[in-house]
Amino acid sequence: MAIDLTTSLTLPSSVSLPNRLAKSALSEGLGDRDQAPTPNLIRLYERWSQSGAGLLITGNVMVDRRALGEVGNVAVEDDRHLEALSKWAAAATAGNAQAWVQLNHPGRQAPRALNREAVAPSKVAVTGAPGVFGTPRELTSPEIEEVVARFAASARLVVDAGFTGVQIHAAHGYLLSQFLSPLTNKRTDAWGGTPQKRRRLLLEIVRATRAELGVHTPISVKLNSADFQRGGMTEDESVEVVLDLAAAGVDLLEISGGNYESTAFMGAADQVRESTRAREAYFLDYAERVGAAITAAHANLPLMVTGGFRSTAGMSEALHGGAVDVIGLGRPLIMEPDLPHRLLTGTADRALAVAPRPLRIKHLEGMGELLWYGVQLRRLGEGKNPDPKRHPLRNLPHYLKNAGMLGRSQQRGFAA
Ligand SMILES: Cc1cc2nc3c(=O)[nH]c(=O)nc-3n(C[C@H](O)[C@H](O)[C@H](O)COP(=O)(O)O)c2cc1C
Repeated sequence: MAIDLTTSLTLPSSVSLPNRLAKSALSEGLGDRDQAPTPNLIRLYERWSQSGAGLLITGNVMVDRRALGEVGNVAVEDDRHLEALSKWAAAATAGNAQAWVQLNHPGRQAPRALNREAVAPSKVAVTGAPGVFGTPRELTSPEIEEVVARFAASARLVVDAGFTGVQIHAAHGYLLSQFLSPLTNKRTDAWGGTPQKRRRLLLEIVRATRAELGVHTPISVKLNSADFQRGGMTEDESVEVVLDLAAAGVDLLEISGGNYESTAFMGAADQVRESTRAREAYFLDYAERVGAAITAAHANLPLMVTGGFRSTAGMSEALHGGAVDVIGLGRPLIMEPDLPHRLLTGTADRALAVAPRPLRIKHLEGMGELLWYGVQLRRLGEGKNPDPKRHPLRNLPHYLKNAGMLGRSQQRGFAA
């Protein structure tokens, strides 16, 4: 039987996705000052639950409230927000889609304005974002063990609240991706120095989370195909990580790429090969390579690819190619929250071509685009429709707030 967008998929944990379209994680920034889900976050998921996507992955949720990645992150480390979390889970699952929480720790990508300190595998600071991030402190070995326990504990809490699975964020330059990369992991102890030791943290987190959730709850991992930086994690190394993840019983591997220093996951023109762009999705060549390695190892690890998919023709071609099992959609679901439904029923064959006007300010382009979409997410949370014509310069206060360039008292008065 030919696989198309409407074909269901049974994951290794025997849970089924009703179709091949997934909303990828989009940081909503709709947590309150105590890092609890707000009514606007719940309203946003009420809308997405009717999107038609068979899988909704939440924006990143932090496993440690002392380590935030952005203003308005939700953090889950105990049951203090169980009621709000349960309402959020109920909203996300209302349309019978799978709803997984993406769990994250920012590591060195923790803005100074939001955190007392940043921690990382080694004392290597983020470049290209002056003033935003400080030099991180190196984690001790017991602290690394604590990170493992935190991911597993947060996973237990969100599943108890009603979410149907979790995704562990090991991409985009956050803590787990920092451990994987030789550029940021300079350790020579049990957590660094060789590729095996660099990937130990991720694998221990997967094992601890599996032990906590049992075999019937899906666990996904989002991984970079490569860091798109000289000296960073290479494709060869990431293929080895994938094979270890398959052996550890991961249900769905989402492939992305890049970090704050190199935003390949957004399709930055200088980082994505022309041949790749021509194929619509940015990471398809890599997915084929990984798919072949998984088959050769006789392993079972379905692949989700996110980044650049816009047309049913491009999505179907990727599914027919055999390496891709699930199509991830990010920005299109912000601008058209019911797009999957229309693609699945054939009433649309592509996403609207909308994007913010370029700022033409070096170093701010990637961040400017992220913030433009962030403001659109806030509109959805308020029950409004997105505003494709919004000028990106109107986001400047939002940028300053995220970058920590406004004091806390000014932040309080800020409205997007
Ligand atoms: C506003 C915004 C927020 C994002 N937040 C996250 C996040 O929390 N976690 C994550 O893994 N990826 C995040 N991403 C990346 C998306 O999941 C996705 O990989 C990227 O947008 C490329 O897919 P697309 O071309 O379909 O938009 C974010 C992207 C945008 C635009």
